[in-house]
Amino acid sequence: MIEAPSRSAMGSTGPRRKGIVLAGGNGTRLHPMTIPVSKQLLPVYDKPLIYYPLSVLMLAGIREVLLVTTLRDAPRFRDLLGDGSRWGMSFSYVTQAEPRGLPEAYLLGEEFLAGDPSLMILGDNLLYGARLPEQLRSASEEPTGACLFAHRVNDPSDFGVVVLDEGGRPLELMEKPVDSPSPWAVIGLYLTDGDAPLRARELAPSPRGELEMVDLLGSYLADGVLRVEKLGRGVTWFDTGNPRALLQASHFVEVLQERQGLRVACPEEIAYRMGYIDVDALERLGRELGATSYGEYLRVLAREERDGGD
Ligand code: G1P
Repeated sequence: MIEAPSRSAMGSTGPRRKGIVLAGGNGTRLHPMTIPVSKQLLPVYDKPLIYYPLSVLMLAGIREVLLVTTLRDAPRFRDLLGDGSRWGMSFSYVTQAEPRGLPEAYLLGEEFLAGDPSLMILGDNLLYGARLPEQLRSASEEPTGACLFAHRVNDPSDFGVVVLDEGGRPLELMEKPVDSPSPWAVIGLYLTDGDAPLRARELAPSPRGELEMVDLLGSYLADGVLRVEKLGRGVTWFDTGNPRALLQASHFVEVLQERQGLRVACPEEIAYRMGYIDVDALERLGRELGATSYGEYLRVLAREERDGGD
């Protein structure tokens, strides 16, 4: 996820696509940790969980992001992220009274989207992989239809699942099947065209009483306009929805960062490498973080860039 393109390599990023981060929900699988605070504000090693999905959107070239959160947590997200301008981004917020399923984000975000295509990511999904940004950017170039990202997992029964034909085309979608006929989990990252709110409005709640993302994707599948991008072996994906996965994600980030000396999902660095902020702004952000190793990392990066980059 750290592999942003070099500043000079950044050009047009295709059609204007907006981002949505779903950071609502009650986080009941993480109680008691999430009784007082949103799951997406919990730490994954050295930064709040929400930095990871936000970094994915930034690396996909998206600058306008809507955060779907709860009435209780919206002020905390605003404290942390503000309007995004410090990172050369634009953040808006909408609150969800009660979680009624993932596709509801398209209804809450209808005004924000204003008919534009989007890339939605679930606030608890962490992705890491060197070629991921290129894959996301190239998949984003197609403005019509929808695209899901599939990742091979050991136990797909915890996730949405896609059944693929021999050519890798989608045949069927299901949510948390007991005996999955396919090893391909549908990760919490979805490209959709401007029709997503219209299609979301047509959905009926599932037996568990929620609008299901697999049903929204299923509506694109029924119209023959659903694509699948398989994430290769070089990509790591965590859905950090339970305590063990949260801890594993922290270990993963710690090991990578300590070995490489590079931070994973550091939005300030990504903003700089994407050309959204200049080296002075990067240094200022580093200074604001004071005597922390995170702040020191930004300050050293700014100094190295001033001295001519690596
Ligand atoms: C949700 C989706 C599921 C998807 C998963 C990815 O499940 O319903 O299709 O595979 O996110 O993180 P949840 O984690 O809300 O149970």
